[in-house]
Amino acid sequence: MLAARREWGSRGEGPPLNKTLLEVKGLKKHFASKKGWFGSAEYVQAVNGISLTVHEGETLSIVGESGCGKSTTGRCLLRLLKPTSGEIWFRGKDLTKLTAKEMRAMRSQLQMVFQDPFATLNPKLTIRKILEEPLVAQQVPKEQRSSLIEETVRIVGLNVSHLDRYPHQFSGGQRQRIGIARALMLRPQLIVADEPVSALDVSIQSQILNLLQDLQEQFGMTYIFISHDLGVVEHISDRVAVMYLGEIVELSDKAALFQNPLHPYTRALISAIPVSDPDEKKERIILQGDLPSPANPPAGCRFHPRCQSCMDICRTEVPKETTVNGQMVRCHLYS
Ligand SMILES: Nc1ncnc2c1ncn2[C@@H]1O[C@H](COP(=O)(O)OP(=O)(O)O)[C@@H](O)[C@H]1O
Ligand code: SF4
Ligand SMILES: [Mg+2]
Repeated sequence: MLAARREWGSRGEGPPLNKTLLEVKGLKKHFASKKGWFGSAEYVQAVNGISLTVHEGETLSIVGESGCGKSTTGRCLLRLLKPTSGEIWFRGKDLTKLTAKEMRAMRSQLQMVFQDPFATLNPKLTIRKILEEPLVAQQVPKEQRSSLIEETVRIVGLNVSHLDRYPHQFSGGQRQRIGIARALMLRPQLIVADEPVSALDVSIQSQILNLLQDLQEQFGMTYIFISHDLGVVEHISDRVAVMYLGEIVELSDKAALFQNPLHPYTRALISAIPVSDPDEKKERIILQGDLPSPANPPAGCRFHPRCQSCMDICRTEVPKETTVNGQMVRCHLYS
């Protein structure tokens, strides 16, 4: 299987492992929404200046409550949405500066897996046709397509006999395997997986997570894994970025983050993970209130209205990024 990827062309020859594959600098996405008072424009600050680096072959997770800007970030990274500002460097090119034609050529290396594959699989097409579409778009010669399609369905744990069926004939877990197969068709380097197991039963979730991990081992795939579920994130990540209201508030290795969370928001999220051992005592930090509107974010630290450690400075001054023992954190407790 690995050989097939190499045969595929130069895509298999990326930068060596542990090298930066993607670098994001100050990414913003503000959506213009309805006019505010007196006709002034109002902007939803869905993503408000995030910076991060993704290394080849790793899984970097982005975790946070629903509405914090995870999907918008993922879509901007693949240029499915046009960022308001910022830079996205991938293999020496700033994706934000590419023309539509240049981006089409780049698309084979950057793919997305969605939460609900059913919504994105055309119900009128057989699986074979669905998997052929990316090959047609990238002008892969016709005689190569069948063997690639058959190889890819086997890689994701489906049978070649499934190819002539339609999406509605599959279970949720199988449909996500098809969604993953579609993302793999062009042998990408980077996959952004947006809540890929959130719609699945818990027993099926682990099968799909294991599949993603196997693919990474076999093909050196790099993942940006988006989830609201820290339990899932703990299973799959190498590093974790915690997102709150459009900003990354903490980013570190998984072990450090789970053993020694620094940001009060990360601490609250981790305290809410259910424990399997009934003897293990854990004090749960209850988050007060809901996520504020990104159209009207709180001044100073965006988390301050919900923070148990809030100080005077937090209400007026935006905390800067600080590094503590290799963990990036954005909180006045550390500045
Ligand atoms: N097309 C859009 N127009 C206006 N607001 C949007 C649009 N897409 C997302 N938003 C808003 O941006 C914020 C972040 O959304 P999203 O990225 O989907 O969050 P998440 O994936 O973390 O749940 C939310 O407040 C959402 O309502
Ligand atoms: S900056 Fe202040 S309000 Fe924000 S998380 Fe830190 S302590 Fe809490
Ligand atoms: Mg989302």
